[in-house]
Formats: sequence, structure tokens, C-alpha cells
Amino acid sequence: MSQSLRAVILAAGKGTRMKSSLPKVFHDLCGRPMLSYVVQAVREVPATDVLVVANPEVRDRVEAMGLRFVVQEPQLGTGHAVQTALAAFAPDDTPLLIVSADMPLVPPGLLAQVAKVRADSGAAVACVTAHLGPDSWFGRVLRDPSGRVERIVEVRDATPAEARIAEVNAGIYCFDQARLREAVVALSPDNAQRELYLTDCIAFFARRGEGVETVPAQREEDIVGINDRVELARARQILQRRILERHMRDGVTVVDPAATYVDDTVSIGRDTTLLPQTHLKGATTVGPGCVIGPNTVAINATIGARVTVIQSYVRDSTIGDEATVGPFAHLRGESVIERGAHIGNFVETKKTRVGAGAKASHLTYLGDADVGEGANIGAGTITCNYDGKKKNKTRIGKGAFIGSNSSLVAPVEVGDHALTGAGSVVLRDVPPGERVAGNPARTLPKKDPV
Ligand code: UD1
Ligand code: CA
Repeated sequence: MSQSLRAVILAAGKGTRMKSSLPKVFHDLCGRPMLSYVVQAVREVPATDVLVVANPEVRDRVEAMGLRFVVQEPQLGTGHAVQTALAAFAPDDTPLLIVSADMPLVPPGLLAQVAKVRADSGAAVACVTAHLGPDSWFGRVLRDPSGRVERIVEVRDATPAEARIAEVNAGIYCFDQARLREAVVALSPDNAQRELYLTDCIAFFARRGEGVETVPAQREEDIVGINDRVELARARQILQRRILERHMRDGVTVVDPAATYVDDTVSIGRDTTLLPQTHLKGATTVGPGCVIGPNTVAINATIGARVTVIQSYVRDSTIGDEATVGPFAHLRGESVIERGAHIGNFVETKKTRVGAGAKASHLTYLGDADVGEGANIGAGTITCNYDGKKKNKTRIGKGAFIGSNSSLVAPVEVGDHALTGAGSVVLRDVPPGERVAGNPARTLPKKDPV
């Protein structure tokens, strides 16, 4: 028998219990769509060939993820989904791993185990079961007195006694392909939902005395299925804990894991500390030795080494090594704060470079600006970058000193080591080393105090 394994991911269901215009399997979980987790897990098993059963609403998104898919239309149940998948490729002797797309927490190890149990036993199917409470949506596993699986009954079709059975079907299967092909053609929609149930294949095999093996899930959380938003929130919590534990084991201090939110897509260096209410999202990277938070949001941020960011909001921006940001700063629009610079309270930067060692400590807006190394931006400085029609650039030279409450009316340039007096309204370029003050700002005699 060949060693390879095919995986079929069932993602065509209507997901009606989510009550959402967004397809269920594309709801976000810690920065990635739900579907991507199962895809990653089956690839890690490894399954060499992954096929997604999609519906017309999700097909474009599935295609955009670069996945091979087949469209099931209409959606007549999980059995029909598998019929559709099987019609998409020629029969061969590769066993088939079948997983629902709404089980993002399933570990690759459990999938590998199901495949191995099926292969070792030569059974028609191996499936994962678990013991859950009476509120579970999962199908119940019915066994005969000798303990052999007879069939799986959906809660909607179950008698009250059957509904009380604790052993449930997790929805993770490995099938012998040839015997699955025989079983799916025999399915009938003879049930409460008038659907073709994949689970009826189990009864088909049991009746014919073909092996049905079960693999108990070691942890209940591994087989969490998401059908509504309550389950979505629960799954998110478990996933978040796993992500934070991974970082903590890699040397990151998370002061309060229950109040820290880190997407699966984020990387964090050693000896960085995350204080409570820190949210790290999207393509954010944080270097080593940083202190982030409390109350900080970083989205697609690139943060260097030994950086401090306190109570701030950073989006699509870069912060260099040893820079300090906050409290109450807002960095956005591809701002770049270079090494050792300081951005203080109530400072907003948009599409602005703040050079190494420069400081904007209080109450400042820097938009479309380039601030040279070591410049000092006084409290209340505003780059007036918008003339009502377009955005204009402000250039502030190295070592320049911008006095408090200066308005720099762009486009304008303040040269290296130049100075503006407090309250200056700068309409024209200031040459390097020159000192200006007033409204409009005029050159000061060399000896005048500012
Ligand atoms: C299914 C199982 C149930 C099991 C549970 C575990 C059946 C009949 N029941 O129930 O025994 O305990 O999973 O999660 O299989 N899908 C399609 N096309 C369809 C219908 C569904 O692709 O026509 C997909 C869905 O997108 C979903 C998966 O199949 O990812 C399971 O469908 P769902 O409706 O969630 O089944 P459950 O009621 O959860
Ligand atoms: Ca489900």
C-alpha cells in the first residue's frame, strides 16, 4: 500500500448557526481565517494532497489561499460533500483523511494517529471520538453490547436515550478509499435534515462487518467544533492561550495571559515583557528585550530590540532599537521611528521618519514629515501638512530645534541645526543654522535672544 495520504477538508456547509454574512470558515481566529488552521494541520501530518470542498460563497476566498478545491452545490450534507470530493479525482489506493473546516484546534498528531490506526488495522475507517457533556452538538456513537461501533446518530435524529450517550463523533476520519467509494453511493437522506450524512458510512461498514476503529481524543479542546459565535469565542480563548504559552516557552514574559492578545502571525524576541491589555496583531514583529504595554495596540508593526511602548497605538509602522514610545502616542501610516528616538505623550505621527535620537516629547502632530537625527520637536509643534487639497512634506534637519507651539506650514524645510522660536508660524524654508521666530516667522539677528 502506498504511504501517501490525501486530505479532504469539508468547508461547504452554510454555517447558518453563525448568523453571519461572512462565511463561517473565514471568521478570524487570532489573525488567521478559521479554515487556515485545519489546512496547516493536515499539511503537517503530512497529507500530500489537500482538497477543500467549497460552496460558491467561499470559492473565491479558498482559491485566493492557493488551495485546491471542488465546489459542492447545492449542499446536501457531509456525505454529499464527500461524494463531490471523490468525483474530483480518479480512484486510487490512497487513504483519505476527512476533517471539517470548523475544527481549528485539531493537532496534526491526532490526525496522524487516526491515519496510523486505520492503516495498521486495515479497517474501512478510523474515527476520533470523545466523551462530552449532554449539550454537545456532536453525533452520538452507538455501540453494540460487545463494544463494537454500530452507527453514529445526529442529535436531531436521536431518541432521548441516545442523546444521553456521552461518547461523540469528533468529525475526524481516515477512510480506506475504495470502501468509502462504495459506502457513499449507498447513502440516503433518510433523516431529520433530509441530508446525506457521511456518518451513515459507519453503519454501512458495521453492517458488513468491515472494521470501524475509534481513536479517543486525549484533550477535549483539540476537537472543539465551531458552529456559533459562543463556540468561536471559546476556541479563540484556547488558541490564544496556546499562542501565548508558545511565546512564554520561548522566553517572553506575559504578565497576565488572560489579558494579553497576540495573533498567531506575530513574532516576539526573548526577554520581552508584555504587560496587560497588550494587543499584537497582524504581521507584527517585536524584537528582544522590549517592554510593551500596558494598554498598547500594535498592528503590522515592526518593533526593534529594547524598545519601550507604553499605552500607545502603533499601526503599519516601524520602531527602531532602544526607542521609547508613549504613553499615549499614535504612530501610523508607515511611520519610522529610528534608533533611540523618543515619542512622548499625545504625539501622532503619520508617514513620518523620526531620525535616530530625535525627540518629540509632548502634544505634537508630525504628518508627511522627515525629522533629522537628534532634532528636538517642542511641545505643541504641528506640521500643517494639508492645504485643503493635497498633503505636503515637511523636512526638519539634523539637530534642529523646533520651539514650542511652532506651526510648520508644508511644503517647508527647516535646515540642519536651525531653530524656530516658540509660537513660530513657519511659511518659508529656514536655511541651515538660521534662527527664525514670529508669525510669519522671520530671521532673527544672530545675537537676539529667542
Ligand atoms: C458533523 C457530523 C457529526 C459530528 C460533527 C463534528 C454529520 C452528519 N455529522 O455534524 O456527527 O459530531 O460534524 O464536528 O456528518 N459541510 C459541507 N457540505 C455540506 C454540509 C456540511 O461541506 O453539505 C461541511 C461544513 O462546512 C462543516 C462540516 O462539513 O465544516 C460539518 O458540517 P456541519 O453542518 O457543521 O456538521 P455538524 O452538524 O457539526
Ligand atoms: Ca460542525
